Amino acid sequence: MSDAPMTTLSNLPSSRPTVLRAGVIGWPIAHSRSPLIHGHWLSTLQIAGSYDRIAVPPSDIQRFLIDLPTSGLVGCNVTVPHKEAAFAAADRLDDVALAIGAVNTLWLEDGQRLATNTDGPGFLANLDETVPTWSDRPGAALVLGAGGAARAVVWALRERGFTVRVANRTRERAADLADRFGPDVTAHSLNVAGDLAAESAIIVNTTTLGMTGSEPLPLDMDRLAPGTIASDIVYTPLITPFLAGARARGLPIVDGLGMLLHQAVVGFAHWYGVTPKVTPDLRRLVLTDLGEAT
Ligand code: ATR
Repeated sequence: MSDAPMTTLSNLPSSRPTVLRAGVIGWPIAHSRSPLIHGHWLSTLQIAGSYDRIAVPPSDIQRFLIDLPTSGLVGCNVTVPHKEAAFAAADRLDDVALAIGAVNTLWLEDGQRLATNTDGPGFLANLDETVPTWSDRPGAALVLGAGGAARAVVWALRERGFTVRVANRTRERAADLADRFGPDVTAHSLNVAGDLAAESAIIVNTTTLGMTGSEPLPLDMDRLAPGTIASDIVYTPLITPFLAGARARGLPIVDGLGMLLHQAVVGFAHWYGVTPKVTPDLRRLVLTDLGEAT
């Protein structure tokens, strides 16, 4: 028996437990759909594991991250407002996390906290599934918004060779984001989004505009060129006014739920050792939970 003091968040031993425990940390955390997604995979793949919502207030985040290797968890997802704290605390960051500057997935290897950001890869996987040819001939992309989600989307679009215009209500925030990615990413005010949209091959909304209870995105859909892809990371409602307008014009649309589902794949694989699939059943399950099932 060791005399080492218990510094854990739980009473479970620090060795790899029989039931693999993971979860999502955030503040607030009650709205997170991640337990539904991972719970579905755990049960359909018959894995002895659990995945919980873990409420971590900002005052406790440093302690949580320090204690993670001895907590009994095999890792966790990280959501608002802790993605930058997780970035700063990780022992090893992969290239995606470094490029995006934020972490949404942590896992343990030999007691070290390894970290990545799966939002960008999740965005790519969703587009690849929904519009498989979307990046065959990369051109200009327009990203609306300049928050954390925009950073992941800009990374993803640069990965596929697009030049990216970032338009944001607060232009300085767009400029800060553009500076991170070099000369192929430029910053603009939201006022000129209509002009930029008219010459874009893909438009991605990362603002909260169009979300249930918010105003719609002020964009004149009539100016968009045929074939322009309209993508929204908002998924409540599933079909935002922006996507509805694009669909009415006959343009390909990509909703935000796919990104949420696909970003979960990598974390699950690290924690539980199996790469799960995003299936129509899973999509239906989450849609029903969101009250969006048809
Ligand atoms: P996240 O990290 O999830 O992307 P965020 O950092 O809160 O979230 O970013 C929200 C985005 O929506 C920002 O680009 C914000 O614009 P500002 O940087 O000017 O705040 C944008 N946004 C929110 N409400 C908006 C509104 N009413 N009109 C235009 N843009 C809005």
